Amino acid sequence: MASIVSRLSLALSLIALALAGYSIYQHTQSAMESQPIKALPAWLQLPTFQSANVLSYYPSGRKSSPAGMLSDEACVFSAVKEVVDAAIDNETRMGASLIRLFFHDCFVDGCDAGLLLNDTATFTGEQTAFGNLNSVRGFEVIEQAKQNAVAKCADTPVSCADILSIAARDSFERFSGATYTVTLGRLDARTANLTGANTQLVGPSENLTEQVRKFGIKGFNERELVALLGSHTLGFARCPVLCDNRNINPVRVPGLQCNCPVTNTDPGLVGLDPTPDTFDQRYYSDLVSGQGLLFSDQQLMNSTTTSDAVTTYRDSIDTFLADFAAAMVKMSNLPPSAGVELEIRDVCSRVNDVSVASV
Ligand code: HEM
Repeated sequence: MASIVSRLSLALSLIALALAGYSIYQHTQSAMESQPIKALPAWLQLPTFQSANVLSYYPSGRKSSPAGMLSDEACVFSAVKEVVDAAIDNETRMGASLIRLFFHDCFVDGCDAGLLLNDTATFTGEQTAFGNLNSVRGFEVIEQAKQNAVAKCADTPVSCADILSIAARDSFERFSGATYTVTLGRLDARTANLTGANTQLVGPSENLTEQVRKFGIKGFNERELVALLGSHTLGFARCPVLCDNRNINPVRVPGLQCNCPVTNTDPGLVGLDPTPDTFDQRYYSDLVSGQGLLFSDQQLMNSTTTSDAVTTYRDSIDTFLADFAAAMVKMSNLPPSAGVELEIRDVCSRVNDVSVASV
């Protein structure tokens, strides 16, 4: 009898427990229905991955960090900064190289990380273009930054194009102490454009008219051209470039520290200005005194509009930094070509195996 009573009371307790659980569940459900979750931004509620490497949808053109997402985007920013800082600690020049890598990507069919795609047996990318071959560098830093973001910020998928934009900004900040905001949401192209890289980029032997024309096509005016070229306050030109007389300001030939002629892979370097590790105004003051290194650089003194901008930036570091930052933001918003298939690459140097995203 005692055992029947104890079994009955156990059964009753279990039923009571189940009823209580159900009531809590119902209460929570109705509370959630009447109060939609406000913290989750719209883009996060969309499906991001259908499988490990198939991107379903990642809306581009998000205007700013939606409320509630700051910590995830902050994770991406800090993962990239960590790698960029270490790379610059290891080699100061890398900051200059990352800024240039970003420019050479964005200027050719927008900021789509097309430049990062390696050639394969069936695909030729942009890396062998005249302005890129043996010249642009920093690919491994971008790959490392991407993998650091993947490892540390799994909830926030980020494109290689975004990583490159952040890396360029962080390099600028590291050297200048100034900064600007990079908004995320770019996508990576599933293709690249070698012909575009050969025609859209400007070469060091090109005159002012050509420079103004090519930058004009991308939406930059002459003052913005002068501001962006101010990044030649950082970094180096290789002797193979400088030993070609068409590329160098003739007045710089006599003192040139290169053993010309050289092979295409000669490692000799000359600072684009005499202070290649400092984001200062020396680049502009050298243009005013006729001492710019590249033929294309010295061309900026050939019109009133551009030479006025040169003297403005020579005289005011604040104006230079503000205009440079604004022009970099503008460049970072150059869109991919219409119709190009887009995705968030898993590895920056190659397209994903499968993708369903496109514009
Ligand atoms: C008229 C436009 C431009 C021309 C003709 C030009 C040309 C060049 C050349 C020939 C070099 C040396 C490359 C080598 O030796 O392999 C160079 C380096 C560099 N360029 Fe430009 N450039 C232009 C615009 C820009 C812009 C808009 C930026 C960035 C916003 C930029 C950033 C850099 C940097 C930072 C370096 C040094 C890179 C390093 O040391 O790795 N350039 N540029």
